[in-house]
Amino acid sequence: MPSILVDLAYITSAALFVFGLKLLGSPATARRGNALASTAMLLAVVVTLAHEDILDWRTIGGGILLGAILGAALARTVAMTAMPQLVGVFNGLGGGASAVVASAEFFRLAGADALPVPDATTIALSTLIGTVTFSGSAVAFGKLQGLVSGSPITFPFQNAFNLLLFVSLLGLAGYLATGASHPGAYLLLAGLAFLLGILLVIPIGGADMPVVISLLNSYSGLAASAAGFVLGNYILIISGALVGAAGLILTQLMCKAMNRSLANVAFGAFGTAAAVGPGEDQDRPVRSVGAEETAMLLGYSGSVVFVPGYGLAVAQAQHEVRRLMDLLEARGIQVRFAIHPVAGRMPGHMNVLLAEADVPYDRLFDLEDINPDFDRTDVVMVVGANDVVNPAARDPGSAIAGMPILDVDRARNVVVVKRSLSPGFAGIDNDLFYMEKTMMFFGDAKEALGDLVKELRELD
Ligand code: TAP
Repeated sequence: MPSILVDLAYITSAALFVFGLKLLGSPATARRGNALASTAMLLAVVVTLAHEDILDWRTIGGGILLGAILGAALARTVAMTAMPQLVGVFNGLGGGASAVVASAEFFRLAGADALPVPDATTIALSTLIGTVTFSGSAVAFGKLQGLVSGSPITFPFQNAFNLLLFVSLLGLAGYLATGASHPGAYLLLAGLAFLLGILLVIPIGGADMPVVISLLNSYSGLAASAAGFVLGNYILIISGALVGAAGLILTQLMCKAMNRSLANVAFGAFGTAAAVGPGEDQDRPVRSVGAEETAMLLGYSGSVVFVPGYGLAVAQAQHEVRRLMDLLEARGIQVRFAIHPVAGRMPGHMNVLLAEADVPYDRLFDLEDINPDFDRTDVVMVVGANDVVNPAARDPGSAIAGMPILDVDRARNVVVVKRSLSPGFAGIDNDLFYMEKTMMFFGDAKEALGDLVKELRELD
């Protein structure tokens, strides 16, 4: 295939990636965006297959087949709550692949006296970033999967040691970038980068892993982009840069929604066992309700706002919420969903769950849009959410001070569905549970909402 055609096809596919990303910005157009980006990927793969200089098509075809089988099996079996660790594995493999490509190129060229400086520079960068991504993602996966302690693992002078390691790595990469054809130095770079990836992730608490995974996702893009330079492949350069930028933007958005700086996530060792444990305020009275009473409250109200949180995902109660929505709307009650940007454990977690149950997009409202409406809302049903509705965020002395929250305590009535008074991810008590207008509906979200559906059906 003439190389001008290959370049044209790659540029077309890069443009389709950009448009696909743009369409992914809204739930209404996300499916089209996904289809467009998949088409772009297909085009890039077909062109690469037809480009005989790269690899024999049978080798590439075998890789695609194996990847497709593994990918399909994973997509069917992985639970929605295990999605962050799956993304972690994907990032790690992406980073690892870029490092492997770079090392193959290094050892291919290493026979010569000196490597050309541009090749040597991109090989060093791709190896460094790709290997850090690989080992860092492996630790992140281990933490989320419970294979490695989720608590921050720290040791004295850790940050200083990591800094020293990083500076040494930069020095080594700088030396290799001059074109030095020195396998020992190259292997040392790969080994130290592997160690740095581990050391950067172990001090981060398990619950902060989604932010880390998003950051590692950005690194995997940068590594792919560097590998693109190594291979002189435009599509890899452009798509890697897109992943790098998108991952970084997402990381920033997640930090902003948690009112944390990236430095605090990376070096703050947040999520230690020192957090306030459950039941600190067990002597304070709470109002407890059951399905029957809640059904009466909901059934005779004019407006209801559901606030889904991490517990909804754990209980997989999205279909019960949808049934409730249908029953309430059939009674002429206005039903809306308030979506906090960091509810759950991954970006867009609640949107994905509710989409699974076919809750229409126009019932979903972002924090800024729904907050002014809470004081006109009859009943707020908080389902498995905790931190995102914790009024403590308004207290400057609180651990979550300044985190934007859903102002559900301003509604006329609040029903909270959860199993106990245990705190959420931030580990702090929630005053909302003890307010006079709040009713605690204790139980697993799926069972509690299932009972509520039965009671509502019996209401005349
Ligand atoms: P959380 O504050 O973590 O609270 C979830 C609540 O769900 C828990 O208090 C738990 O109480 C309840 N729960 C667990 N299993 C349940 C079940 N089967 N049925 C009913 N309830 C159940 O969740 P949130 O309000 O969604 O806030 C998310 C937190 O995660 C924020 O602090 C956010 O900063 C953090 N975070 C989010 C992300 C992203 S991107 N979403 C990334 C990193 C960190 P019980 O044990 O009493 O049932």
